Amino acid sequence: MKIHNFSAGPCILPPEVLNEAAAAVGEFNGLGLSLIEISHRSKDFVAVMEEARELTKELLHLPDRFDVLFLQGGASLGFYTAAINLLPTEGRAAYVDSGTWSAKAIKEAELLGKIDVVGSSKASNYDRIPTFSAPPKETSFMHYTSNNTIFGTQFASTPDAGVPLVADMSSDIFSRTFDANLFHLFYAGAQKNMGPAGTVMYAFDKEAMSQTGRAIPSYLDLTVHAGKDSMFNTPPVFSVFVTLLTLRWIKANGGVAVMQKRNEAKSSLIYTEIDRNPLFEGHAHVDSRSHMNATFRLLDESKTERFDTMWKSAKISGLKGHRSVGGYRASMYNALPLESVQTLVDVMQALEHEG
Ligand SMILES: Cc1ncc(COP(=O)(O)O)c(C=O)c1O
Repeated sequence: MKIHNFSAGPCILPPEVLNEAAAAVGEFNGLGLSLIEISHRSKDFVAVMEEARELTKELLHLPDRFDVLFLQGGASLGFYTAAINLLPTEGRAAYVDSGTWSAKAIKEAELLGKIDVVGSSKASNYDRIPTFSAPPKETSFMHYTSNNTIFGTQFASTPDAGVPLVADMSSDIFSRTFDANLFHLFYAGAQKNMGPAGTVMYAFDKEAMSQTGRAIPSYLDLTVHAGKDSMFNTPPVFSVFVTLLTLRWIKANGGVAVMQKRNEAKSSLIYTEIDRNPLFEGHAHVDSRSHMNATFRLLDESKTERFDTMWKSAKISGLKGHRSVGGYRASMYNALPLESVQTLVDVMQALEHEG
């Protein structure tokens, strides 16, 4: 049965990737063994890790001075890990507060030093990307969340802060192109455009590391992991493998620029309908709208039951909005076909025509 999966994450993955992953759990590389019952130090798995790191560099056009790691702890540990590797003991960092995940990143970084929140849209329930003021002198980096999964907002382009950037790209990595030269580090939990839950990717400028004057616990020290080729301890082998399959799929489908075009076509279809259909309104300001997560609501809540019945019978799944926004959220990650968005738009129009 074909389900239109609009889940915010974990979320839809390409069917080819799921089939190949399932096969590898049965038997990997003709070894007579499952992918998940071989040593992570075997040549078969080391090749998986190396290809995943290399393909990330290739697809994102990372400069040679960048390294890529696949670790555990999710983006939630990334909040602290990013700060402890880059914030000098006596230094300061600027943070943009554009949603729940940004606020969590700020809370973790504040454990380590002086944080200047240079912009926030909290007062309007994060319905836009805030404007931000220039970071104060001696700021080491500015951190921002490129796409706010819960509120459906996204930085339209890479911000110009006049200082190196650090970003949580959990929900839009590999969905659009950007210039990595502006960054000291970015990180992303895998479970949207990259693969299943269980690993977090860090990409960072090696030359920006080891300058904080801090003692860093081994697992949180990105240079320790880099020195061991992302094999300091047992990596999350299944997640890294499925991530590799997804990266191969992105490459085979034309790369990140092609993903971006497809994603723009999908988001344009849904936002055109939200703006046209008198029964709906969007949550995010037009200039802050996300290409990944479209948040919207019914103007007349008495139609909720009927609309919910209609989209469920159209085999749409995962459309309920996050509790802090309400309404609906259509998450349209790389693997979601345009056809699924068209199905949702058809249901919205059918509701309108019922009168
Ligand atoms: C933008 C963003 N940052 C961070 C997280 C937290 O990620 P994790 O669950 O991998 O810690 C999420 C989770 O959905 C997210 O969407």
